[in-house]
Amino acid sequence: MAATTLYLLTALIALTSYILNRLLVNHRILRALNIPGPILAKLSSKWLIITFARGEQMNTIHSLHARHGSIVQIGPKEISFASARACKDIYSVNSRCLKSPIYDNLGKPGLVGMRDKEQHRERLKRVSHVFAPSVLRELEPGLQAQIQKLVALIAKNEGRGFDIVKPSRMLALDIAGEVFLGGDFGALGAKEGEEPHYVQVMGLLIPYRGLETDVPWLLPLLKLLPFKRVKDFLGVVDYIYGFGEERVKQSIERYGRSARRKDLLTKFLVGDPEKGTLPLSDQEIADEVSNFIYAATDTTGVILSYFLYEMAANASWQEKLRQELEEARVREKGFEYNAIKQVPLLHACVYEVLRMHPGVGIGLPRITPQEGWMIDGIFIPGGVVVHTPTYTIQRNPSAFPTPDSFNPLRWLSSSDTKCAFAPTAEMQSHMFVWGGGEHVCAGMNMAVMEIKIVAVRVLCEFKIRVESEQTHKDMQMGDHFISEPKGGKGLCIFEKIE
Ligand code: HEM
Repeated sequence: MAATTLYLLTALIALTSYILNRLLVNHRILRALNIPGPILAKLSSKWLIITFARGEQMNTIHSLHARHGSIVQIGPKEISFASARACKDIYSVNSRCLKSPIYDNLGKPGLVGMRDKEQHRERLKRVSHVFAPSVLRELEPGLQAQIQKLVALIAKNEGRGFDIVKPSRMLALDIAGEVFLGGDFGALGAKEGEEPHYVQVMGLLIPYRGLETDVPWLLPLLKLLPFKRVKDFLGVVDYIYGFGEERVKQSIERYGRSARRKDLLTKFLVGDPEKGTLPLSDQEIADEVSNFIYAATDTTGVILSYFLYEMAANASWQEKLRQELEEARVREKGFEYNAIKQVPLLHACVYEVLRMHPGVGIGLPRITPQEGWMIDGIFIPGGVVVHTPTYTIQRNPSAFPTPDSFNPLRWLSSSDTKCAFAPTAEMQSHMFVWGGGEHVCAGMNMAVMEIKIVAVRVLCEFKIRVESEQTHKDMQMGDHFISEPKGGKGLCIFEKIE
């Protein structure tokens, strides 16, 4: 008995001293820089993981910057910089900082996750033709048809509380299916619990990858559980990428490799003969397409929800924008993108939403090169994860006075809402919604096109208002890498304009 107690005591002392030693080692890593930040964050990387799991990483980092200033330590080897200069130092084409190892867990290898600069450049050359403006024009009819389904769904629910969050996400997913795979997922309008399996499991991919990285020992234990949801969770990677593979195969069998159908898969399969760019292999195409569907869905979906919400919450801006769209005769022009893309107030409203509710509000993590790197005037040693929190930067009051107010006018060159979209250099350097440098969002033109067509078709058909005070609370922003309304829904009332 005494021997057992002695063993247990020894084990406990060994474990405690191991943990203390690890914490002290962690504490020393960036100590010389004396950067402010929570002591728990300096001791253990688990602090940041917990804020992530709670859906509060973006808000927590924002409060830390409000308290401590533009540089905050948020992990033993992790620093957040809330300044435009840091954005340039970290993300510009000349920067030697690379995407951090966390990108290895984002999905199968492809443009989004590639960390090696040469490999990424090479891949970008092979895929960039699918995002060319001429291709975007070809996609418009498919996009318009999907968006018309949203308008019909709203019409069906006219006059009663209609949740804008889920349908916005489902529309973004259906559009991604339409443009990348030549067919939607049947997600928009599917009844609760009857959504296609892809829709039911896609939200599990990032949590699965997170668990695989942070607590890999838990996975074999989960495999022992007999529940369907757990099985879906464990099989999510195979399912999502298997689906992409299957669709690519089907498309080749049905339409061949040189089909002139108007989807991006067709463009992938033929490469870019004009520039002599060879297509990727079928497997690479399938993986890229699956990654792109991911990159395109939740980001665009959340911005669409916030666009509708800001319009509902700001009746006078909604009315001004509607008037301008009428004057631009967008209905008579069949809501064609060409007719709407230049309306300055529409562009200003979209950018104000992108500023206040960026799809990714936390920083995009990069790792400093072995020899270290100067960031915002400070020498940061090698191997440190550094980032700039988009939400905080885009609410910097020196670039955007009264940053928490929705004010599209700030984007225009004078108080006349018909005048040019003309952000100052200060504003431009503080907009980071699309990321920066070589990794700038490949789909930004497609996303803006999608948001503007939805905006115009909905505003020309309906007046919108927020259903109740609860909706404001539900729409407060949290995040799980992608920003999201904390309440998961936002009820608005749409009334048909006669
Ligand atoms: C409003 C919607 C969107 C937002 C806010 C957004 C935001 C971003 C951001 C911040 C990045 C940089 C990621 C990083 O550096 O780690 C990015 C990259 C990317 N986005 Fe988007 N995105 C949106 C829509 C789309 C769409 C519709 C597509 C369509 C395919 C897309 C495809 C991509 C791709 C492929 C990359 C990787 C680019 C690279 O590393 O070379 N995104 N996006």
